[in-house]
Amino acid sequence: MLRRLHPVQPDSFEFTPANLAWAKGQIAKYPEGRQASAIIPLLWRAQEQEGWLSRPAIEHIADMLGLAYIRALEVATFYFMFQLQPVGSVANIQICGTTSCMICGAEDLVAVCQEKIAANPHTLSADGKFSWEEVECLGSCTNAPMAQIGKDYYEDLTAKRLGEIIDELAAGKVPVPGPQNGRYASEPLAGLTSLKDFESGRHQYNASVQLAVDFGDTVKRIDGTEVPKLTRKSARSGSVPAARSKPTEPKPSKGKPADATGVTKQAARAVSKGKPSDKPKKPKALKAPRKAGADDLKLIKGVGAKLETLLHSLGFYHFDQVAGWTAAELAWVDDNLEGFKGRASRDGWVEQAKLLAAGGETEFSARAKKGN
Ligand code: FES
Repeated sequence: MLRRLHPVQPDSFEFTPANLAWAKGQIAKYPEGRQASAIIPLLWRAQEQEGWLSRPAIEHIADMLGLAYIRALEVATFYFMFQLQPVGSVANIQICGTTSCMICGAEDLVAVCQEKIAANPHTLSADGKFSWEEVECLGSCTNAPMAQIGKDYYEDLTAKRLGEIIDELAAGKVPVPGPQNGRYASEPLAGLTSLKDFESGRHQYNASVQLAVDFGDTVKRIDGTEVPKLTRKSARSGSVPAARSKPTEPKPSKGKPADATGVTKQAARAVSKGKPSDKPKKPKALKAPRKAGADDLKLIKGVGAKLETLLHSLGFYHFDQVAGWTAAELAWVDDNLEGFKGRASRDGWVEQAKLLAAGGETEFSARAKKGN
């Protein structure tokens, strides 16, 4: 299937303040210079917020991670979980069309979607509330046929029941997910043949459905302000995994030196990563460029118009300033390139600036001057 950006795009994208804080938290999980690793969570969050991934959203995230747009576009267009076109404001119905579901009636479910939503997948219904698509096996084959709606699974579906579910969603209700034919989970249709004691002590819903009901976010857009609230009842019922008990024994490696020096492996790594002298330190900044005017910092590979403005705001206008940054100062700059953290060291700004400050050229600056 050809995956292309939608021809109609919004002008801009912003995370909600709470989602932005969440996104920054994700970025902070990765070591300096490896922020690109946060791309999938951030793209996913943008999709959770908007329902789909627009070009401005993808580019906004690329900027946050200091990535070329094409690299973020590669990820967004590669994975089918990312929706590249608007989806229904209430729900995007994902019908499993793989073997078990196909044998058990997935085609009938698709027919319901075609009748109630739109003739073709990835198309909005007339009221904009729904869209649908066929997806590959969602791992719920014992409860075929099934569909994922929002974050939850609706299993053991019939065409009639799917039609009712769509109507209920359109009316603002959220039908209880899970098996729709009276099955508790994935036990035999005719009832349990073993472990029958389980039947008498069980709770109203199976654990997955109970969690879905407790969270209540099946088709909600995530703006970052919601904290899943679990009821005491569900926590007691065992549907929520109990907190892991603390291991009574320390990990085998705890306290054991890695070598004769007595340094543990973890400590040895930490020491080799940075000397105390490399602690980030702000370089000397200028209030304004010198009389002759600022250098064109965009001749440094990795510095675009946005970063040049940011560098000016930090008090850096000239190649010789950049050329003089020590390791500790470079670390400070890397830390303060909001949205581009780690780029200064990754792209070798200091080495480039040394050449430019001395009147030389880099391959990039020569090309940039020619307008390439
Ligand atoms: S075949 Fe549909 S969930 Fe596996």
